[in-house]
Amino acid sequence: KRIAVLASGRGSNFQAVLDAIGAETIPAECVCLITDNPGAYAITRAERAGVPVRVIDYSAYSSKDAYEDALLSAMAACRADLFVLAGYMRIVGSRIVEAFAGRMINIHPALLPAFPGLHAQRQAISYGVKVAGCSVHFVDSGMDSGPIIIQACVPVLEGDDEESLSARILEEEHRALPAAISLFCEGRVMVEGRQVRILPRAE
Ligand code: GRF
Repeated sequence: KRIAVLASGRGSNFQAVLDAIGAETIPAECVCLITDNPGAYAITRAERAGVPVRVIDYSAYSSKDAYEDALLSAMAACRADLFVLAGYMRIVGSRIVEAFAGRMINIHPALLPAFPGLHAQRQAISYGVKVAGCSVHFVDSGMDSGPIIIQACVPVLEGDDEESLSARILEEEHRALPAAISLFCEGRVMVEGRQVRILPRAE
């Protein structure tokens, strides 16, 4: 399978995906990194791994529509079976969602449907939840609202702040995202409405 990754920043989840491809636990090749941020550290990670990079610099476009036109054609040019949003910090417009329906997944650092949107870990701390985690889900037209493929949870400990909780959740993200991508690439992810069924591994 061919996968393409969209990332806006540090790219530690992207790195986890590259590592899993390197270790052959994800049966795929990463054909492209697309970023909206020319300063993203993810670019360095891609270059190190020999993954082609497309920068679609958000600030170079006069409107969100013009940006999304460019993004849509860059994505189409990847000819990817799966698009992975790994710390891509923008809302994906409906044209892109429709163009790649069922082929685009996102990692979110909360147990959805709790705490969608920005600063999910901070939201969890201030709400006072005792369990937090991450979710890998299909992208639909809502905010972090598509069918959930995998979740993993971590405790919220006495004295945690946004930073310590984020670090604990991030470790789980680095496992959950490659795991979800593997399942998808193995053809084991079935979506029926809101429900995602994980099929057993073929013998
Ligand atoms: C992760 O916590 C991801 O869930 C969130 O943004 C962060 C990106 O981290 N959407 P990285 O760029 O993968 O290191």
